[in-house]
Amino acid sequence: MLYSVVVLISGYGSNLQSIIDNANDIGIKIDCVISNKKNAYGIERAKKNNIKTEIIENNKFESKFQFEQKLAEIINKIKPTLIILAGFMYILSAGFINQFKDKIINIHPSLLPKFKGLNTHKRALEAGEKIHGASVHFVTNQVDSGRIIMQKSIKIEKNDDFKTLAKKVLIEEHILYPLAIKKILKNL
Ligand code: GRF
Repeated sequence: MLYSVVVLISGYGSNLQSIIDNANDIGIKIDCVISNKKNAYGIERAKKNNIKTEIIENNKFESKFQFEQKLAEIINKIKPTLIILAGFMYILSAGFINQFKDKIINIHPSLLPKFKGLNTHKRALEAGEKIHGASVHFVTNQVDSGRIIMQKSIKIEKNDDFKTLAKKVLIEEHILYPLAIKKILKNL
């Protein structure tokens, strides 16, 4: 049996690609990719793989509530086991998150609880960290603070700048996210 998932994106979608490439091994079927940005390259990736896509632009709605209502409507038709955020650059409200308790997961480019929020690579370098990485966690009402499912760390080298670091972490993310999804599903 394959578990149904929905993936939410905003941009390049390299994590989405890794989930697509590993879908069989994870045991999932991606029933829809939803983007809140119309030019997200991830939408092309989904189409190339014959995955249903939806573009719902949050800035076209009068309120967060209305946008999230539309999002929930699409998701409720599918009833996925997991809602996977993969570079989804939008902060979901508590009202939305509570409707899908323990079903929403996210990947974040830092070793949480360190460096929640944006510009994580730059901040890790400025803080003089020796180790950096990525985390997959459940989404709760507090940004980047839900229970951690899995993490992957990398060593920061002396000559790393935030660009080289971002590249290294992203490569690890592509390995980490499929593993973390598999782990959650195994424990259901
Ligand atoms: C990744 O670094 C992820 O950790 C963060 O947003 C980025 C998305 O990259 N949440 P991509 O769109 O998957 O290539």
